[in-house]
Amino acid sequence: MKSFLMIGLLLLTSYALAEPFKSADAQSGKALVDKHCINCHASSYGGDGSEIYKREFRKVKTSKDLIAQVRNCNTMLGLKWFEDEELNVAKYLNLTYYQFTE
Ligand code: HEC
Repeated sequence: MKSFLMIGLLLLTSYALAEPFKSADAQSGKALVDKHCINCHASSYGGDGSEIYKREFRKVKTSKDLIAQVRNCNTMLGLKWFEDEELNVAKYLNLTYYQFTE
């Protein structure tokens, strides 16, 4: 019984620690998304703009897709974000919507 508990605990902690954009800053990522990204998503998908991340056939399927997509939007919009800003945004979107663990 005890060892089951231990294994459960281990799994839980490794799950909580497994996070692909660990050292990035989700708070500043959120500020960037709120400012630059929501309007357009909301106008094409309705609601508060978050549907695009939750739709059934969403494009982003891994954390690599996610950072690639953030990079694409950055380039497309000419925002000239630095790498760490892209990572902050990816972290925020991952924690809030995608929840990839690796
Ligand atoms: C001018 C409109 C517009 C702006 C501004 C915009 N996007 Fe997008 N975004 C889109 C459209 C349209 C799609 C869907 C693309 C598709 O389905 O091929 C999309 C898709 C995405 C997806 C993938 C969603 C999925 O399917 O999983 C992510 C992530 C994303 N955008 C992030 C961002 C970020 C971050 C920003 C801010 C830098 C941003 N977008 C700004 C139009 C926009």
